[in-house]
Amino acid sequence: MPEGKPIRVALLGCGTVGTEIVRLLTDQAVDLTARIGAPVELTGIAVRKPNKHREVPAHLLTTDAAALVASDVDLVVEVIGGIEPARTLLLDALRSGKSVVTANKALLAEHSGELFEAADSSGADLYFEAAVAGAIPLLRPLRESLAGDRITRVMGIVNGTTNFILSGMDATGASYSETLEEASRLGYAEADPTADVDGFDAASKAAILASLAFHTRVTAADVHREGISAVSASDIAAAKGLGRTVKLLAICERVTEVAEDGTTTESVAARVHPAMIPRGHPLAGVNGAFNAVFVEADAAGEMMFYGQGAGGAPTASAVLGDLVAVARNRVVGGRGPRESAYAGLPVRSIGQTPTRYHISLDVADRAGVLAQVAAVFAEHDVSIAAVRQEGRVDDASLVIVTHAASDAALRSTVDKVGGLPVVRDVVSVMRVEGEEQ
Ligand SMILES: NC(=O)c1ccc[n+]([C@@H]2O[C@H](COP(=O)([O-])OP(=O)(O)OC[C@H]3O[C@@H](n4cnc5c(N)ncnc54)[C@H](OP(=O)(O)O)[C@@H]3O)[C@@H](O)[C@H]2O)c1
Repeated sequence: MPEGKPIRVALLGCGTVGTEIVRLLTDQAVDLTARIGAPVELTGIAVRKPNKHREVPAHLLTTDAAALVASDVDLVVEVIGGIEPARTLLLDALRSGKSVVTANKALLAEHSGELFEAADSSGADLYFEAAVAGAIPLLRPLRESLAGDRITRVMGIVNGTTNFILSGMDATGASYSETLEEASRLGYAEADPTADVDGFDAASKAAILASLAFHTRVTAADVHREGISAVSASDIAAAKGLGRTVKLLAICERVTEVAEDGTTTESVAARVHPAMIPRGHPLAGVNGAFNAVFVEADAAGEMMFYGQGAGGAPTASAVLGDLVAVARNRVVGGRGPRESAYAGLPVRSIGQTPTRYHISLDVADRAGVLAQVAAVFAEHDVSIAAVRQEGRVDDASLVIVTHAASDAALRSTVDKVGGLPVVRDVVSVMRVEGEEQ
């Protein structure tokens, strides 16, 4: 095939991911040209501090990202991160007809609507595979391969730092703070781990996944978020005792309700929180910094996507895949998938979302305790799936797993049970996922 004219690329950011993008563009230049049908020409790299970037050609570096975006380029690759200036730079690029590839989950989770509108205004492409689950091909399958199916649920481990910590707590029985310290020492947690351990990163990813899976705009603010800092060694031990393990899950689901007259209403729920899953569940075996996402669709059934969710090279692989797709579109004159938000389903609050709880209580060891506790569950219309009671010398433990009920009903049940005189302590409360409701 004769080679087309070069695809001119501007790179914004040259940190962990950007450096690997430059390396892959250089190392694989010949193959990329053959795959695209035209060579890729890197025309400039925007950074803050050019002096610290000895690894890339000095003549490509600039601190003026806006001018680089405004220059004669076909494609802008953004790996700066954060909302501004990335948002303004990408809106400018898209409005002027330049296609965009970005790894920026925070930006996509808050501003995908206006970014897609800007892309539509000029017919440019917007690709963002690297924004969720690093190297794992996941967004393209949701946007394209499964476009003919009806996705009902997406449940995944999408944050490596929290998975490293929870896997460590499960393996050693150590506390959250000890394991976080270990993760920081080994480079698996940032100096300020808030975005990871408080679930912000996973919530951004859940918003992106829910938007694609359910053809509905879902933002990070729509996602219920709980982090892992309250997960205790006793929660982990309780999970182990029940043949379960604790994971921080991003869960996006389509909730279908059938009214008495047979009419159905659909809504979307997106949440991030720690949950107990059976040790036999495919997500239970995902340890350390790996990511995995479990997708359920009507026709396709169950699928799991697994691999490296972060790191310079794995993330750059996903960015390069997008770059090749966008460049090919340029060469042949086509366009990739646009935003698909036609369904516009309402987003449910966590209070209305059906979940299941595991509750572990320290109770007085006397007759009638179980009856008193069970009465509170009945009063809130929460049905109990399993109970285990173990007596000790002067007190006993009671472990209850519920059937699905609204999260609000479950929370008020736990509050009231905790106030019963026969209950000495609520040892552990955690949602349960990954098994029949
Ligand atoms: N790291 C991962 O494993 C990973 C995985 C998936 C997705 N991502 C996403 O990829 C993006 C980049 O992550 P990263 O880890 O590569 O970040 P990083 O190492 O902090 O690099 C950020 C780069 O952006 C440059 N930069 C910052 N502000 C700028 C500005 N105003 N103008 C021009 N350049 C600016 C920095 O320049 P200086 O170097 O001169 O300071 C640096 O080169 C983020 O959106 C992140 O969420 C990262």
